[in-house]
Parts: sequence; structure tokens; C-alpha cells
Amino acid sequence: MIIGVPLETLAGERRVAATPETVKKLRERGHELKIETGAGLGSSIRDRDFLAAGGEIVSGDEAWGAELVLKVQRPGAIAGGGHEVDRLRESAVLVSMLYPHEDPETVSRLAARKVSALALEAVPRITRAQKMDVLSSMANLAGYRAVLEACAVFGRFMPLLMTAAGSVPPAQVLVVGAGVAGLSAAATAKRLGAVVKAFDLRPASREQVKSVGAEFLTLDLDFDGTGAGGYAKAAPDEVLKKEQELLAKAAASADIVITTALIPGRPAPLLITRAAVEGMKPGSVLVDLAIEQGGNVEVARRGERVDHEGVIVLGYTNLPSRMPGDASRLYARNLLQVVLHLHGKAGFSLDLQDEITGAITLVHQGEARKGAC
Ligand code: NAI
Repeated sequence: MIIGVPLETLAGERRVAATPETVKKLRERGHELKIETGAGLGSSIRDRDFLAAGGEIVSGDEAWGAELVLKVQRPGAIAGGGHEVDRLRESAVLVSMLYPHEDPETVSRLAARKVSALALEAVPRITRAQKMDVLSSMANLAGYRAVLEACAVFGRFMPLLMTAAGSVPPAQVLVVGAGVAGLSAAATAKRLGAVVKAFDLRPASREQVKSVGAEFLTLDLDFDGTGAGGYAKAAPDEVLKKEQELLAKAAASADIVITTALIPGRPAPLLITRAAVEGMKPGSVLVDLAIEQGGNVEVARRGERVDHEGVIVLGYTNLPSRMPGDASRLYARNLLQVVLHLHGKAGFSLDLQDEITGAITLVHQGEARKGAC
């Protein structure tokens, strides 16, 4: 198959959908790889590294014109006019992050272009699909990076230090939401020597929090947030209100708070109110990893650093792109597994009866599927 890898054009996006490692593996299976010139530079991969792996360096038109196009971000408007969807050839297959609920118009465009479009974020969280799970790979990076971003603006050490000038207490870190990103943040903060507490509405997370060396923060909520497929379900308003009050108390004694709480398909729950931020110590840092879904922190602003009454609130988006080397490495490996899943020994097929293919195919040969947007 001819596989194209275009340069990502979204502002701030430094990842790329293939690396020399995955190019080599796809070449070994007989595919031709057409990579747009400069596509890897944001991730420190040079054109010649792709060439050495057996890829071909081509123009954007050629990369977009492939039979199978691999991307990180969904296609978007082209600066100066036009839309990237129109660069796809008819009957092409696009595999990318798509998030159709955020942008149903792009799904309609893909259907009108008579292509097939597969959404990587929809890979089911089943054992068989773990190798394709980009959400976990990227959440892992985001949790790690959130701690480093917090440390970079926190005016103090993380570990307990005994010095000739006296001792320095360890930083107190609170992580709210102990899914993949939260556990990664808790583990990272712990490795840096902080005292870490984490909370989640799913009781199953208690053991996972302990397994990374952190303490599970018990809040008197009397609510089991376990929903379908391992995800959380939304808490009723009265539970959320109580959670806000209890978290305000916990945040007041923390130095760094990292929030990661999400409910699939809904806006992120508001957990740290303005009053809670105002109750925190000056110099404390909050990182709101849920900001792309509306945020867990009332005063957080998408993509920005806000200084609110002495508390630094980071609402940075796309944290994986701040570590593009490993983000691309993991993303490309997940994507490779998807390609291998679709292109078995019998050739390429979009078998909608297959649990994984059926779940990720949003547009099938020009038809937007039910629930796609
Ligand atoms: P997510 O990103 O959707 O949500 C993050 C966390 O926020 C979740 O742990 C959720 O319980 C929590 N949360 C939601 N509302 C909250 C509230 N009001 N207060 C506190 N916490 C709240 O979740 P993620 O990270 O994608 O993982 C969800 C689950 O899926 C986890 O149990 C994880 O272990 C499981 N999982 C399973 C995989 C597999 O079997 N292949 C792969 C990855 C994750």
C-alpha cells in the first residue's frame, strides 16, 4: 500500500505520525512510505533519518495523495484558503485523532470527499487493543509533563533536603483523578521526592494509587463513580458540591495540585473552585490537565498561565507535544499496530464487524456512521 505521512500543521503540534522505526517495519511488510519533507523535524527526526529507514521524502500533495494517510491531528483549514480534507484522494483511508464531537463539520467534509476516516481516540480499552491505545500513551506523557511544568514554576524543591543551612520540607502534591494521566503524575512527583496524595471517584483506583507509592486521599463522599468500561460516571450535583468543599481543604495544604478528572463525552467536572484557589498558599501551583474538556479548575484558562492571588494556574494544552520525541515514538507505534490490524495477510480491509475496526471507523467509504458526530 502507499502510505502518506503529512507534516502536521496545527499551531504548536510537533508530533509526527511515523518514525524511522515504524517506517522500517512497514517497509518490511512491503508498503511504500511517502513522508512530507520536514514532517519529523518537530520531533528531531530529519528527512534523511526517514530515508535511511526506507521512506521516501515527498511534497505535501504526494503525502496527502496516498492510499492510506497517517496523521496526529485531524485535518483542518489551510492558511490562505482551502481545507486539508480536500487534499485526500477519493477512496483514501485516513487514520488520525478525530474527536468528531468537537468538530462535526470535518466529519461531514470527510464523508463528502468519499474517503474512510478512522479515529484513533476511539480504540476500545480492551486487552487486545492495548498496543493501539494512543489515549493511554499520550495521557502517560501528559501526566509526567504536568509535574515538570509545575516544578519549573514552583519556587521550591520537591524533596526533603537536609543542608548546612537547615532542612527544607518536601513539596506536598495533590493529584485529582487517578486514571492514566493522574497515576503518571503521582508516580513522577513521587520519584522527585514529593509527598503525594491522589484522589479518584472510582474505588478501584485506591490500589493503583498505592502501587505508585502515593497515598490515596479518602474523602467522605459515599459515592462510587465507577462507570462503564473502567471510566468514571458523572457524580450528582450534591456529591460534586461536597467533593469541591473537601478538595478545597486538601488543596489548602498542598503546594502543587494536578487535576486530571474527566468523564467521557461530557465537559470536565469543576472540582477546584475560585474560592478553593484563593484558599491555597501563595506560590502554590495548579496544573489543569482537563482544560481541553473545559477544565477542573474554575480560574484556569485554556493554553495560558494565570496568576491568581499568588497561585500559579497552568492551563497548557497538548502537553504530549512538549515532549515530541517520545510522544511521536509512542504514537507512531500505536498507529503501526492499527495499520497491522487493518492490513493482515489477506490485504487491507475495513471489517466493520471487527470490534476494534468497527469502533474506530467514523466514516466508511463516504458514509458517516451512526454516532460519528
Ligand atoms: P479519563 O481520562 O477519562 O479520566 C481520568 C480520571 O478522572 C478517571 O480515573 C476518572 O475516574 C476520574 N474522575 C472523573 N470524575 C472525577 C471526579 N469528580 N473526581 C475525581 N476523579 C474523577 O480516564 P483514563 O485515564 O482514560 O482511564 C480510565 C480507566 O480506564 C482507568 O481505570 C484505567 O485504568 C482504565 N484503562 C484501561 C485500559 C485497558 O484496559 N486497555 C487502558 C487505559 C485505561
